[in-house]
Amino acid sequence: MGCSDEGFGLQGRVAVVTGAASGIGFGCARFLSEMGASVALFDVDGEKGAAAAAELGPKARFVKVDVRSEESCRKGVAEAKRAFGRIDALVNCAGVIRRRTVVDLTEAEWDLVLDVGLKGIFLVSKFVVPIMAEQGGGSIVNIGSGWGVKGGPKAVAYCAAKGGTVNMTRAMAIDHGPQNIRVNCVCPGDVDTPLLRDEGRQLGMDPQKWLAESADRPIHRVGQPLDIAKAVYFLVSDLSPWVSGSIVVVDGGGTA
Ligand SMILES: NC(=O)c1ccc[n+]([C@@H]2O[C@H](COP(=O)([O-])OP(=O)(O)OC[C@H]3O[C@@H](n4cnc5c(N)ncnc54)[C@H](O)[C@@H]3O)[C@@H](O)[C@H]2O)c1
Repeated sequence: MGCSDEGFGLQGRVAVVTGAASGIGFGCARFLSEMGASVALFDVDGEKGAAAAAELGPKARFVKVDVRSEESCRKGVAEAKRAFGRIDALVNCAGVIRRRTVVDLTEAEWDLVLDVGLKGIFLVSKFVVPIMAEQGGGSIVNIGSGWGVKGGPKAVAYCAAKGGTVNMTRAMAIDHGPQNIRVNCVCPGDVDTPLLRDEGRQLGMDPQKWLAESADRPIHRVGQPLDIAKAVYFLVSDLSPWVSGSIVVVDGGGTA
């Protein structure tokens, strides 16, 4: 029996990945593409997004989308469907962080973190789910965080967005399981991306000390985007046909 018989490949599948110009989103887009999928890379950063899609080759396409905007999400999803004919997988990965307490945080920062990280999942899913339902099914992976399952210091809006992402995943899995749409959440620990390095800057930390602290976990290293992409791949592939509503922590044992 070949690998594809066991549900390993993604040949003929189409994936949409948000926040795909950078970090974990790009890592997911690249790995799903390497496993055979066509990928629509959604991001608000036009320059980085176009370069990311070009790096993945002809089966990848950049679509400029601001996940905070219903109209932008509607158009982006329609463009992906037009380009590839179907959508089998959605990875909701766009996110931003502001390292502040409720006292330090501004209202605009609260809105930004919640709009990108939580409302964005709602808006993109709103337009993808009907397409998946019409096709007979699909798989959605929401990217949460270790701080979706426990709290963290000076990150109150981010913790709210990620806690919301975790329970929203369960609610979506309940609503759309009958349409054969699986919905799961991957919660990464510290992964070496521009977001992680920016967190160190926001806290005024020395960059090397910050990365060393981030590696302080049972599997003693910082995560790489590929560590997360492999878990996402499992969840969007046919390797996980009965996995839905799950919260998969991928953090080198950090929250153990
Ligand atoms: N890096 C980590 O340590 C870590 C840990 C846990 C969870 N996460 C989560 O993983 C996800 C990806 O984070 P990352 O570390 O790869 O960050 P990143 O900054 O490298 O990438 C985030 C991407 O999201 C895009 N984006 C921001 N606002 C957007 C918007 N309005 N519309 C569309 N795209 C937008 C950015 O342009 C960027 O390309 C986030 O949800 C983050 O919260 C990251």
